[in-house]
Amino acid sequence: MTSRRSFITQSALAFSALSASRVLGANETIRIASIGLGGQGLGNAGRMAKVPGVEIAYLCDPDTAALDKAKKVFPNAKTTQDLRKVMEDKSIDAVVVSTGNHWHVLASIWAMQSGKDVYVEKPVSHNIWEGRKLVEAARKYNRIVQGGTQQRSDPLQDEIKAFLDAGSMGKIKYVRCNHYSMRASIGKRTEPLTPPATVDYDLWLGPAKDEPIYREKFHYDWHWDWNTGNGEMGNWGPHILDDLRNVVFRDKVALPKRVIAGGGRFAWDDAGETPNTHFAYMDTGSIPVIIDFHNLPRQKGIKAPDVYLRRRTGAFLIIECEGGYYTGSRGGGTAFDSEGKKLHIFKGDGGKTHAANFIDAIRSRKSEDLKGEVEKIHFSSAWCHLANNSFRLGQKYNREQAEAAVKDFQPWNDVIADFHQHLIKNELDASKLDIKMGPMLEIDSAKETFIGDTATPEALALLTREYRSGFEVPQSV
Ligand SMILES: NC(=O)c1ccc[n+]([C@@H]2O[C@H](COP(=O)([O-])OP(=O)(O)OC[C@H]3O[C@@H](n4cnc5c(N)ncnc54)[C@H](O)[C@@H]3O)[C@@H](O)[C@H]2O)c1
Repeated sequence: MTSRRSFITQSALAFSALSASRVLGANETIRIASIGLGGQGLGNAGRMAKVPGVEIAYLCDPDTAALDKAKKVFPNAKTTQDLRKVMEDKSIDAVVVSTGNHWHVLASIWAMQSGKDVYVEKPVSHNIWEGRKLVEAARKYNRIVQGGTQQRSDPLQDEIKAFLDAGSMGKIKYVRCNHYSMRASIGKRTEPLTPPATVDYDLWLGPAKDEPIYREKFHYDWHWDWNTGNGEMGNWGPHILDDLRNVVFRDKVALPKRVIAGGGRFAWDDAGETPNTHFAYMDTGSIPVIIDFHNLPRQKGIKAPDVYLRRRTGAFLIIECEGGYYTGSRGGGTAFDSEGKKLHIFKGDGGKTHAANFIDAIRSRKSEDLKGEVEKIHFSSAWCHLANNSFRLGQKYNREQAEAAVKDFQPWNDVIADFHQHLIKNELDASKLDIKMGPMLEIDSAKETFIGDTATPEALALLTREYRSGFEVPQSV
């Protein structure tokens, strides 16, 4: 196996000679490597393969079971467990990174250093610092880098913007974002889990810490462990907050000025660390934002997710205006006047042209052609990390103190009231739970760091991570 040191040396040399990236003719086939072949990776490979002029040429996953499954769909593609082999292959033009979140940035940077363009899943980073490194690499190597928030390519978003601008609902007062979906306990083993025999665990782990795993399932449930995932805030959050940053803020607000979050992981007593009930306030300097997630059922014993006000399931954006509101999720939404009369129904396509948009930009070599250009999605991912950072710094929750943290803003009191109601419906006694309430973090948007009293060593440490030896995201890309 190529050592990491020799890999980097080789790829840097290859790139400095500009030999790693082919100059593509207009009709030439674009050869893609699909890195990470779980549920989303296989889906992404299928969507890319449908774009005219694209070939899925390389399949990569440390799990040979995932490779075998993908090979049935793409029998002519080469396979490897080791992404460094992909980087060395000069016939590969672009990679699609659909690994766990902890690998997104390093895999993308290695690909860019090898002259390849990148489509990287959301959240595009596992922490804010490495997200900036991802953007720096895209600029340095002049690569086309698309973030995997596919709704950016949905014409729906421009239609909502135009509707808001037409003014029939008046000025925006605030935005409430949410996603209420049911999840379940991931179990809590007494003995650590042995990774499946088909997995090269060193490669699966990459930058993450080598620590025992106590959940039952190896794949997917890494989301609920801070070592590899970013919880529900970093799972649905990047979609929702990216819609918000695009539709409401028109990409003019990079990061919020202040963020505070609370919540906890209740009822399950499992090996997961991330909250299953999470609420946050984001002070943007203009329109205020509230976001919350509920993973417990609507009511104990009922197999249905919670409901929010006027929308039964999975509402993402609720844009509250002076004379009405818009409520919508992926694929569509509705605008109402203040009496609840429907003003307009919007239908979206769920972002089905996002893969084609990436391929078009690879051919045009213009990153401004990308709908999900990486810096935009870096910012949207960072909003999620900030809400997680505040939660992780949390102290014991006290309702009065929590309410007082955001003054004169009724929607903050509302989200706290909803949180308590949700606990009651699940027959949980708030006074007996380990509820956390984080500090109001102050953010320097230009420097992407904390400032003021909350810029403590503990807070600053959460902006990055300790990288496992051999898998460091470079300080200088
Ligand atoms: N855009 C969307 O709508 C959407 C939907 C679902 C998931 N996602 C994102 O896609 C990513 C994958 O999610 P999933 O549900 O498929 O997870 P998953 O756990 O099912 O699959 C991840 C796969 O990556 C592989 N992997 C790990 N390390 C690797 C490495 N070094 N090289 C190559 N492969 C590696 C794993 O073995 C696994 O097969 C996540 O970041 C998730 O947030 C996006």
